[in-house]
Amino acid sequence: KAKSKTVWVCSDCGYDDGQWWGICKQCNGVNTMKRFSEGVEHLTTGFEVLENVTRSWLPHQSVRAMPTKLTDVNKGINQSNWRIPLCGLFGAEVGRVLGGGLVPGCLVLIGGDPGVGKSTLLLQIAAIVAEGCDMGGPAPVLYVSGEESIEQIGNRADRMRIGTDELFLYASTDVEDILEKTQTLSLRALVIDSIQTVYLRGVTGSAGGLSQVKECTEVLLRFAKKTNIPVFLIGHVTKSGEIAGPRVLEHIVDVVLYMEGEKCSSHRLLRSVKNRFGSTDELGVFEMSQSGLQAVSNPSEMFLSEQQSDSEFLAGLAVTVIMDGSRAFLIEIQALCVAGSSVSRQVNGVQAGRAEMIISVLIKQAGLKLQENGVFLNVVSGVSLSETAGDLAVAAAICSSFLEFPLPVGIAFIGEIGLGGEIRTVPRMDRRINTVVKLGYKKCIIPKSAETSLSALDLGDTEIVACRNLKEMINIVF
Ligand code: TYD
Ligand code: MG
Repeated sequence: KAKSKTVWVCSDCGYDDGQWWGICKQCNGVNTMKRFSEGVEHLTTGFEVLENVTRSWLPHQSVRAMPTKLTDVNKGINQSNWRIPLCGLFGAEVGRVLGGGLVPGCLVLIGGDPGVGKSTLLLQIAAIVAEGCDMGGPAPVLYVSGEESIEQIGNRADRMRIGTDELFLYASTDVEDILEKTQTLSLRALVIDSIQTVYLRGVTGSAGGLSQVKECTEVLLRFAKKTNIPVFLIGHVTKSGEIAGPRVLEHIVDVVLYMEGEKCSSHRLLRSVKNRFGSTDELGVFEMSQSGLQAVSNPSEMFLSEQQSDSEFLAGLAVTVIMDGSRAFLIEIQALCVAGSSVSRQVNGVQAGRAEMIISVLIKQAGLKLQENGVFLNVVSGVSLSETAGDLAVAAAICSSFLEFPLPVGIAFIGEIGLGGEIRTVPRMDRRINTVVKLGYKKCIIPKSAETSLSALDLGDTEIVACRNLKEMINIVF
């Protein structure tokens, strides 16, 4: 074997030298100098020799890109066709959350709890992108699953009546293998289900671990940028509300969407929490069905019909908005006041001390005779309320049950209660109010001091009522 000339190249800055350095002499990168045999185009990494000709998205490649003139960059982009539109009602809803369609070459992360419907959502997105009604006809889309066999995905597609000709299925967990397969298809989009199941050869750690998830995402990002093919990644969310493994994943990708929904409810929310190409205040509302997710174009009706059907039970029920990380969602708080000898206080999902305080403030500052009452509190569907933003809804639920006055349908409460009965503002008011508005609520009770944060919001048909204290809130609502 002929010995070729060997140089050492920094994988970060491209600096080369005839000898190896532990720290790059140009950029001070640690352990970034890699052996590079000229003429052979082989790059030795710690584990194996990678060809860096066709697979230039792999890590540690030393392709030296040159700066490009802005005008040359823009020449290639027809501004009006820059985004890939998604068609149909469902497509429009997804497109809106994405900021107005799919940007070529973007890396989109879709996070959510296991079982929330991510695979279903992505299969539907893959199908409409492949059909591509407004995009000059069908084009191939590849749906890769590391979790299910292609028969299982096929079955699901069958149930959902997806029969798109250009949808390709592939079961694999090897990123290199997956990207190699994309070479033979001229893809319009690529879906990876999920980022926690794929791995990269030559990277230590098991699939789903910090380094694998990070490296795989970086490779997929480079692939998306190099080929201009949009890539969707599915990511499972841990209990704490973060995407499993590294939080750093959110920094690498272009767009982060969260899919949310309660186990017992058929609604699914798709929320954009990061978007390099658009607004992050977008929220898509979907309803689950046998044939997959359906866009709900008028969420308010959906919520109203549900509540009106059992309107007799509405006394003692109030709605608030809680935040989970950067995610906002609505929860219902139930209260039951029972007059009589037993004055026990049972709370479920609300901090006992907080509940006791709100009850005392209602007695002292609002004149409610709760002393002779047993008070039970419950947060519907087992969520626990760890924020003071729910105080006002807790108080409203108690008042509603105590006065046996059902709260009107379509009203939400946001605010913290102080010992003097005053209503205080809470963080992320804009995000919370936005959710209430988007879900078609008619009225939202907020603290007086939060009124200033409203100016930039599109309130739609929602009436915002600002209250200083509990007495004011009770006078307005009851
Ligand atoms: P799935 O997409 O597998 O969830 P994830 O990928 O987030 O774990 O969906 C979970 C189950 O719900 C699955 O059995 C299919 C079912 N499902 C429907 O029947 N209809 C729907 O509209 C959705 C979203 C899911
Ligand atoms: Mg899945």
